[in-house]
Amino acid sequence: MPLKLRAAHADDAPALTQIMQDYKASLGYPEDLMRQWRGQWQITPEMVTDHELIVAEDAGQAIAFSGLKQNPPQSVTLEYLYVSPGAQKQGIGTLLLQRSEDRARQIGCDKVTLRSEVNAGGFYERRQYKTVGQEPSKMAPGRFMPLMEKTLVGNVVPISEITLSVSSNAWDFET
Ligand SMILES: CC(C)(COP(=O)(O)OP(=O)(O)OC[C@H]1O[C@@H](n2cnc3c(N)ncnc32)[C@H](O)[C@@H]1OP(=O)(O)O)[C@@H](O)C(=O)NCCC(=O)NCCS
Repeated sequence: MPLKLRAAHADDAPALTQIMQDYKASLGYPEDLMRQWRGQWQITPEMVTDHELIVAEDAGQAIAFSGLKQNPPQSVTLEYLYVSPGAQKQGIGTLLLQRSEDRARQIGCDKVTLRSEVNAGGFYERRQYKTVGQEPSKMAPGRFMPLMEKTLVGNVVPISEITLSVSSNAWDFET
């Protein structure tokens, strides 16, 4: 079944929480630290309505999600982008990021800001995000969460060739 992107519903909250927690677990943090933090890593039904959450699902199962918060008039914050560890490196993270940027453009914003996970800065850098600050990680002492932003430009489609033809029909205004 093809990958499907759709808006999240309040009843997706437990599945999205699981994706976020599975991602954090894949980073190898010690279990006692994980236990302390699991309560904070929750997507609640209220968060689904407060943010624009997009779910990527495969065969009806949620495998990734993104979530935007609007900061009118000019920027959006990508609050969430999590891909289940088993679904990574298939282009899903890039797709959700592009979808978020398209949504920002659609509502007239030209900047996306985010706070990356400690190990995900490179992913965003390769997609033209710049690091503008950093926050110490509470999970990984001595490491930092990059604060990043990207200024959006319009989508430009390069054209390598163009063929023009002139109609032999006279224009109305010439007759
Ligand atoms: C970073 C993250 C989004 C990547 O998700 P992903 O689905 O694996 O991303 P993609 O598959 O689009 O890209 C990852 C890499 O896989 C590669 N890739 C994509 N499709 C591939 C394929 N079919 N085969 C092999 N490699 C592939 C990409 O080229 C990319 O490498 P690059 O970054 O050097 O370009 C994911 O690890 C995650 O959830 N991290 C947390 C992000 C975070 O900080 N969230 C909180 C703040 S928003």
